[in-house]
Amino acid sequence: MKLESDFLVIGSGIAGLTFALRAARHGRVALITKREITESATNYAQGGIASVFSQEDTFDAHCEDTMVAGAGICHEDVVKMVVEEGPQIIRDLIEWGVQFTTSGETYDLTREGGHSKRRILHADDITGREIERALVAAVRADANIEMYEHHIAIDLITEAKIARKRLKTNRCLGAHVLDKNTGAVKTFTAKVTLLATGGAGKVYLYTCNPDVATGDGIAMAYRAGASVANMEFMQFHPTTLYHPNAKSFLISEAVRGEGAILRRRDGTPFMERYHHLKDLAPRDIVARAIDNEMKIHGDDCVYLDITHENPDSVRERFPNIYQTCLEYGLDMTKQPLPVVPAAHYLCGGVMVDEHAETDIANLYAIGEVAFTGLHGANRLASNSLLEAAVYANKAYEHAITRLDTTPAPAEDIPDWDSGTATNSDEMVVVSQNWDEVRRSMWNYVGIVRSTKRLERALRRIRLIQEEIEDYYWDFIITSDLIELRNITTVAELIVLCALQRKESRGLHYNIDFPERDDTHWKKDSYIKKQF
Ligand code: SIN
Repeated sequence: MKLESDFLVIGSGIAGLTFALRAARHGRVALITKREITESATNYAQGGIASVFSQEDTFDAHCEDTMVAGAGICHEDVVKMVVEEGPQIIRDLIEWGVQFTTSGETYDLTREGGHSKRRILHADDITGREIERALVAAVRADANIEMYEHHIAIDLITEAKIARKRLKTNRCLGAHVLDKNTGAVKTFTAKVTLLATGGAGKVYLYTCNPDVATGDGIAMAYRAGASVANMEFMQFHPTTLYHPNAKSFLISEAVRGEGAILRRRDGTPFMERYHHLKDLAPRDIVARAIDNEMKIHGDDCVYLDITHENPDSVRERFPNIYQTCLEYGLDMTKQPLPVVPAAHYLCGGVMVDEHAETDIANLYAIGEVAFTGLHGANRLASNSLLEAAVYANKAYEHAITRLDTTPAPAEDIPDWDSGTATNSDEMVVVSQNWDEVRRSMWNYVGIVRSTKRLERALRRIRLIQEEIEDYYWDFIITSDLIELRNITTVAELIVLCALQRKESRGLHYNIDFPERDDTHWKKDSYIKKQF
């Protein structure tokens, strides 16, 4: 079954939705998403969106903070562009109906780690939910956008794939997509394909990402021949709730921005030993400090203490966090919260240029799936929603120039071939491998790494990959199998990039190369599939 549109958008977070809304002014948009439209990482973002909105702040200060956090490898031109276009892009969000929290006549600005000024616009502590609410309403009202919920992309369709050979310039023509409701595989063709599939936190055993974060876009783009960069820089959020039933519930960095202090079990604050900004040091430093404290003292967690602040203000500023913790029997106004780090944000991804185009023509990538050069070796808090929204506009401005591309004749685009696949009665193979990848990544490719552990992880991942490839073509494809194949590809890419980088920088810390090496490694790590 073939479905044709001008723009195929894969993913329904801030990146996909804002692109779709802009693109719909010029053509028909097919928007596919693997669950309900609101189920994206954006929806769970608590902190907010960083931008220069205060008289006391400057573009230079925001750029400087971004680059300090990025540990020397942010692309300065990208940082400047994103920071300077930020205020207008945020005004666009407001126009689409997003309501940020105000304070008197102005927006209430909060602080997070690594920011020298208050510059984070937020909607209480559910910023992402508010952004998603407004954008989804706008998308639903747009007659030019056709939504396909419960549809998961399997693989991209490219000219090279159809021709079964390497081409000097490869072009994306759409994607094969599994309709999860019916089990049918549909062929979506489009002049422009946009990956807005988010990140890959599910590659790790512990993550505050939603279940949809399985790195689908990165894995598909890599398989199709696009370059991928800086995959070793997985950001671990320092503070997720440590509770057996909480499934890594995020405690926003804004809680520290409003005065919370990290303490050991015995109550001793420890961040002053690690950084002059103490609890508001960049995230890589805080996460490593917590990991170190837990290892030295043999503790399962550390504690985040805001009990010294006014309880009414805490309840008012963090209604969602307060209420959720209360449901787990923890009153944050009266007791410190037990917290641990968990995988949170992937700074690397599919390499894109200044227009968000990948090195496959007519294929764009924006948001967490993409590597633009903004984040360097460590993302500054709340810069990601900003990056996604700014690059959605960049992609849109460029993608409309591709609308006069001659489409490939529909008959030349093959439908999905499931060969002799049969129904599998061995789903245990999928769940076993799923667990093994995530556990290996957590144990061997976590906050502190060594070359030996990285090599061990790679051996295991490669074995699992062989098994998946056999399984993939023998059995009828399912959403779980697609995701397993994708997390395993992304795991391999993270390890390969981590092995390339023979130094420690930002989020990548290898005990065999504990120093930063600006002579050889002040650069990105790249990887491209060899066909
Ligand atoms: C948080 O609220 O701590 C997360 C914000 C971010 O990761 O940018």
